[in-house]
Amino acid sequence: MTAQPIEDTRLAQRGARDAWWRDAVVYQVYLRSFADGNGDGVGDFAGLRSRLPYLAELGVDAVWVTPHYVSGGADGGYDVIDYTAVDPDYGTVADVRALVEDAHALGLRVLLDIVPNHTSDRHPWFRRALADPDSPEAARYHFRPASENPPNNWQSMFGGSAWSRTPDGRWYLHLFTPQQPDLNWADPQVADDFDRTLRFWFDLGVDGFRVDVAYGLFKDPEYRDNPGIYSPTLFGHGPEQAMTTNQPQVHDVWRRWRAVGDSYEGGKMLVGEVSLADLDEVGRYARPDELHHAFQFRLLKSDWDARAFADTIGEALAAFDRVGAPAPWVLGNHDKARQVTRYGSLRRARAAALLMLALPGSAYLYAGEELGLPEADVPDADRRDPIFLRSGGKRAGRDGCRIPMPWEALAPGLGFSPAGSAEPWLPVPAEWARHAADLQATDPGSTLSLYRRAIALRSLHPALGSGLASVTRTGDVIRVDLLARHDDPAPVTCWINMGSAAVEVPAHRLLLASSPDVTDPAGGTLTLAPDTAVWTHG
Ligand code: NOJ
Repeated sequence: MTAQPIEDTRLAQRGARDAWWRDAVVYQVYLRSFADGNGDGVGDFAGLRSRLPYLAELGVDAVWVTPHYVSGGADGGYDVIDYTAVDPDYGTVADVRALVEDAHALGLRVLLDIVPNHTSDRHPWFRRALADPDSPEAARYHFRPASENPPNNWQSMFGGSAWSRTPDGRWYLHLFTPQQPDLNWADPQVADDFDRTLRFWFDLGVDGFRVDVAYGLFKDPEYRDNPGIYSPTLFGHGPEQAMTTNQPQVHDVWRRWRAVGDSYEGGKMLVGEVSLADLDEVGRYARPDELHHAFQFRLLKSDWDARAFADTIGEALAAFDRVGAPAPWVLGNHDKARQVTRYGSLRRARAAALLMLALPGSAYLYAGEELGLPEADVPDADRRDPIFLRSGGKRAGRDGCRIPMPWEALAPGLGFSPAGSAEPWLPVPAEWARHAADLQATDPGSTLSLYRRAIALRSLHPALGSGLASVTRTGDVIRVDLLARHDDPAPVTCWINMGSAAVEVPAHRLLLASSPDVTDPAGGTLTLAPDTAVWTHG
């Protein structure tokens, strides 16, 4: 493999960009599992701050931090009790301010995670709503009168009915756990309160938000049955969930939030979770006056299959192009088994990473994928995810991708917590020492080094990440031709071989390969082994 010297012009280029988010590499930190600063076995802001230099060196543009609010702990922080306070497990509001200052000094932006579809059942509004059905707070949730059966067929995405009973016999709606009652966005107090929350964090210097369940919020006002049943194996929600997802009024909320963000100098950035199957519907959330990015999860949910990958990429590029928005790409997150395990090998996960990092638009990395972490096998007794608990163990849940990060191969607990601390909140497999970040940082063949080099090259070659792409597939091989949008004559091509036989591809110069066994092109061709991706140039 040819090692090209990389001059780090990243920070200078970052400053020159107008809309930094269009082609940003965003790194998702699962706060509870990233780094423990105070020794209680739980990740926190102090730990995250201490690891910011690692993220700057990785070369990402922004950090997205999963929910940090005071929470009931029923769903990894996605059940919020107080939207303007920090859970003591993670630190204080002053720690968030310090994080933002440290991050900005390193050229990194900070996105928090906001949860507008539901609160915790311990939120003061819900408590008052339970105590008094006639209270103004009761109008901020979906309550239905007492009856023998649930009001309709709506299902919780974590299993079972989406309706639970209050002690006085009423029903209340929760599309996730019973500890996450859905807010009623038809009540104007709800929208006003979220404006205040946004401003609270924006005033502190936070650069934007990832928006949880951005395809949700509004529900059919007549509470009619859904035409079909939710299935977690679908690419996203479709017409079968027409009464609980993708109601037209939700777009007014994103216009309103965009206006709040745009009222700050330089603007604030919003990326929404839009788990809808129809990519054109997803694109509508990223129209110019709505969210900046709308996550589509088809790539994340695609198996290792060239047709599925190529079709998804082509369709997503076209759908976002129609609204003039950049496409955000995701291969892993805190809700999905890790790529190494899902695709079947580290080799494949590395190849997929090169494909994703070449595509025009923004790339979202999930903490630990740059270390090539596999899904961990978590003993049932240690599992915490409500998906596992509510399905009676039938669905494994998401704990296996939420294991604390292995930082130092020789440190106790692999350096997640300071020496002599409490046990990590989820067990870290001992064999993960070989994945530790400190070992990989000095190994040029490591997955960490591959990600660092790919992200650095993305900054050096305008065709990568922000160019125009043409996607073609021949059998199991995908070719993506990338051309810069502005005055850079040098196109880059990304090739990925997802099949089981080696192929010859035309190439003159190798920029980067996902596997060390790729050799320099000879006679205008290069041999691409199975489960390998390359970037070629010139
Ligand atoms: C999507 C989040 O990514 C997931 O972790 C959470 O359980 C649900 N939304 C409910 O908030």
